[in-house]
Amino acid sequence: MIIKEILNRRSIRKYKAEAVPEEYITEIIKAAQFAPSAMNNHAIEFIVIRNQETKNNIYEIVGQEHVKEAPVLIIPATDSTKTNCPVEDLSVATQNMFLQATALGLGTAWKSIRPELREEIKKLLGIPGRFIVINIIPAGYPEEKPGPHTDKDFDGSKIHREKW
Ligand SMILES: Cc1cc2nc3c(=O)[nH]c(=O)nc-3n(C[C@H](O)[C@H](O)[C@H](O)COP(=O)(O)O)c2cc1C
Repeated sequence: MIIKEILNRRSIRKYKAEAVPEEYITEIIKAAQFAPSAMNNHAIEFIVIRNQETKNNIYEIVGQEHVKEAPVLIIPATDSTKTNCPVEDLSVATQNMFLQATALGLGTAWKSIRPELREEIKKLLGIPGRFIVINIIPAGYPEEKPGPHTDKDFDGSKIHREKW
C-alpha cells in the first residue's frame, strides 16, 4: 500500500495568503535533515525567505508567478566541500520536504534554478560560494487541489526483471 503523503503530494503553484507557521518550516527542514545523504555528510543548509521584496527579486531571476506569490520560500544549499553528491543529496532531501509539507496540509512544488542562474541567486541571497543550489521550494496552503496519484499513474511496463 502506498503511503498517503506520496499519493497526495502534487505540485501546487497557487497558495492562500495565510502565513505558514514557523514550526511547520522547522518540521519541513527537520524532514530534510532526516533524509539519507552521501557518506552521511549532512552538508545541506537552508535559507527561509518570507520578505516580499526578496521573493520578487528571486522571481525576476527564475520566473514563474508562484515564486513571488508563495508565503514562504525555502532554498536548500549544499556545501560542495562536504559532499561529492550535491544534486543527489539535495534531491532526496527535497522529496522528504515535499512529503512532510503534504502531511502538514501545505502545497509545494520544485522550482528549478537553471545552472546559469545559480550564481545570481546565491549573490542575491549572500549564499557563500562553496554552496550549490539547484531548486527553490515555495510553500503555502493550497489554493488549488489537483487529485491524488492513483494506479492510473503506475506503468508496470517500465519494470524490467533480471534482464532489460
Ligand atoms: C527535477 C524537477 C524539476 C522541476 N522543475 C519545475 C519547475 O521549474 N517549475 C515547476 O513549476 N515545476 C517543476 N517541477 C514539477 C513537475 O512539473 C511536476 O512534478 C510534474 O509535472 C508532476 O506533477 P506532480 O508533482 O503534481 O505529481 C519539477 C520537478 C522535478 C522533479
